[in-house]
Amino acid sequence: MPEKEKHKFKTLRQILDKHGDDAGSLIPILQEAQNAYGYLSQEILDQISRETRIPLSQIYGVVTFYAQFRLHAYGKHVIKVCHGTACHVSGAEDISLTLSEELGIESGETTKDRKFTLETVACLGCCSLAPVVMVDEVVYGRLTPGKAREVISR
Ligand code: FES
Repeated sequence: MPEKEKHKFKTLRQILDKHGDDAGSLIPILQEAQNAYGYLSQEILDQISRETRIPLSQIYGVVTFYAQFRLHAYGKHVIKVCHGTACHVSGAEDISLTLSEELGIESGETTKDRKFTLETVACLGCCSLAPVVMVDEVVYGRLTPGKAREVISR
């Protein structure tokens, strides 16, 4: 492996060394790799497959099954639309639809200019403000589709 590649995968190397080649460690390996690199790129998955000898198709099966794994980098701003019970009954679906339309992406996707990532999450812990959206670390509550449009245009 070229020197530059070795350096890039140094952290991944440490993660893999820690877990050995136990196939049962795949999920912790993927979690730690995602924590270290932000998302699971094709290169990272290839490397994990090579080292663990777990077929890439099997790794993709795991990564696409669990919502916690990301195959793409986050955008500059991450928009989390709460779909917990209180938000759901207060119109979270309309908020998600509005944001999807405005940004031209579905939940889990990032805009082409890498400005926004849209996500659906469970309760954000401020149900009295339902429906709630969190943009980066800022919470916006009692949203309507119109207010949600205003928030992202800001
Ligand atoms: S259900 Fe949305 S903040 Fe609790």
